[in-house]
Amino acid sequence: METIRHLIEPSNLTNQEIEQLVALGLDIYQNPKNYAEKCRGKILASLFYEPSTRTKFSFDSAMLRLGGNTIGFADPDSTSDKKGESLTDTIRVISNYADIAVMRHPKEGAPLLASKHAGIPIINGGDGGHQHPTQTLTDLITIKRFKGSLENHIVAFQGDLKYGRTVHSLIKTLSRFNTKKFILISPEELKLPSSLKRQLLKKYPSLVIEEVRHLSDVVTEIDILYCTRIQKERFFNEEDYIKLKNSYILNKKSIKSAKADMIIMHPLPRVNEIAYEVDDDSRAVYFEQAKMGVYVRMALIMKLLEVE
Ligand code: NCD
Repeated sequence: METIRHLIEPSNLTNQEIEQLVALGLDIYQNPKNYAEKCRGKILASLFYEPSTRTKFSFDSAMLRLGGNTIGFADPDSTSDKKGESLTDTIRVISNYADIAVMRHPKEGAPLLASKHAGIPIINGGDGGHQHPTQTLTDLITIKRFKGSLENHIVAFQGDLKYGRTVHSLIKTLSRFNTKKFILISPEELKLPSSLKRQLLKKYPSLVIEEVRHLSDVVTEIDILYCTRIQKERFFNEEDYIKLKNSYILNKKSIKSAKADMIIMHPLPRVNEIAYEVDDDSRAVYFEQAKMGVYVRMALIMKLLEVE
């Protein structure tokens, strides 16, 4: 039986494949017309068991821009999930209706389970607080576009490093690309899980990870500042969320002494972690980042469907 390639976590791709996807995504960005027919006749199913704006629409847009079609749902209550159908049955059936599927699910591991029962490539569009590999590809194409290289940067993550799946996937992946230093800025309660930190240091003993409480302590040295939303939906009680929700608010003042070529990223949606006044700062690239997500997802769809 031929093996089907899935993207469940970033480690499913080699460094070379990641660089090729980023390069292909940038070529699609510059020459979209060359790709407008690449997936003619193909169908993408988007299966979203959790809310999404960017991931769902950028995947749909990516497939449509490749000349393909899309089916799917953004609300599982409108499907047989509501009647009690298992995820594995759903995916077996969807495999007959589409050529490739992207799935977002609140349960960690759901896309992996689905991939074991699927007859088509499955892409993880975010599983609980676990992983979000296509956001990582989006982040990497953005870094490549604005910083020229994926390597040798000082990268700071700020906000919810405990539950933020975008952080988990990106830090794991950037560890593979000679990152000069990671700086983790979070309240004590939302620190990067120590198991993940240990795992990274074990695999890459020369990795430098510094943990600080305040951006102001480190702002002058950062090349890439990756801000995140406090992940309200992952908290067990509302009180804890309320206590932490305004931990960090980036404003003009807080980046005054930052490097002129630092870039400010955010996977979006933002709630109030970045003041609107920052949007017109030339270092703010988060809306361009969301835009690049379409091109790198076009590249990924082409790769998994083995389109030349
Ligand atoms: C992120 C997610 O869903 O994890 N959003 C996204 O896909 N761009 C970030 C978030 O929800 O905070």
